[in-house]
Amino acid sequence: MAEGSSAEKTDANQRADALEHEMIDALNRVPLRSVLFTSGDRDPTGPIQDPLPPGKHVIQGIDPRLKPMPAKPTLMDFFKLRFGTANNHLLQSANLARKAGHPEKIIIACLLHDIGVTGFIRADHGYWGSQLIAPYVDEEVSWAIRAHQSLRFFPDESVGYKYPDMYVRLFGADFEPEAYIKRDYEKARAHKWYMTARLICVNDLYAFEPGVDPKLEEFTDIIGRNFRQPEEGLGWDDTPASHMWRTIMMPTRAL
Ligand SMILES: [Fe+2]
Ligand SMILES: [Fe+2]
Repeated sequence: MAEGSSAEKTDANQRADALEHEMIDALNRVPLRSVLFTSGDRDPTGPIQDPLPPGKHVIQGIDPRLKPMPAKPTLMDFFKLRFGTANNHLLQSANLARKAGHPEKIIIACLLHDIGVTGFIRADHGYWGSQLIAPYVDEEVSWAIRAHQSLRFFPDESVGYKYPDMYVRLFGADFEPEAYIKRDYEKARAHKWYMTARLICVNDLYAFEPGVDPKLEEFTDIIGRNFRQPEEGLGWDDTPASHMWRTIMMPTRAL
């Protein structure tokens, strides 16, 4: 490999120094809880946080406990460096849709359908997930991810979708979806893209196939064709969802 010029070396050294400084600085900072009021594991009207030790600051950037992210993160980087082990559920769903011969629009919808849960927040995950990806995918894909939130609770025998046994286990046999879920189901049922959302449910339900371990890299091309990766990197671009990607990237920033 050809050696770089001394100007390039100086530049690289400066970047390395800056990064090291940033890391040391981050280690001296106190991480705050990423979620103050909505985690539900504490009373939000109680005291907010332990007092800040004297001389310490709060984190307002990189959290040294998390894996570092590249300067211009892609969807794949978020999958690998920020999303939880539930990634496997997404890969299984996408794999099932691919094996069934569905078009790429359905496969990408299955791959991203629970991105709200794996990357951000559990409650209302279809709505959050849909907003997170809306600027980067076909409108039909984000619509379907939003709609899967309500469709999951209602059977459709035309495609062999029954109310999931797992929901009886999770929510109890007497669980009744809320009024807004019923309302959104009715709206989705009459929508021209209904079947796109329904196919997410169909591929979701049987997604836990033992012994099947699809890899994210198998979907590189489908992601490339169906997810518009912003040039600046997810989070550093300027869309109505950029702040959500930044929060996933740096969840413990104080403000
Ligand atoms: Fe879901
Ligand atoms: Fe799912």
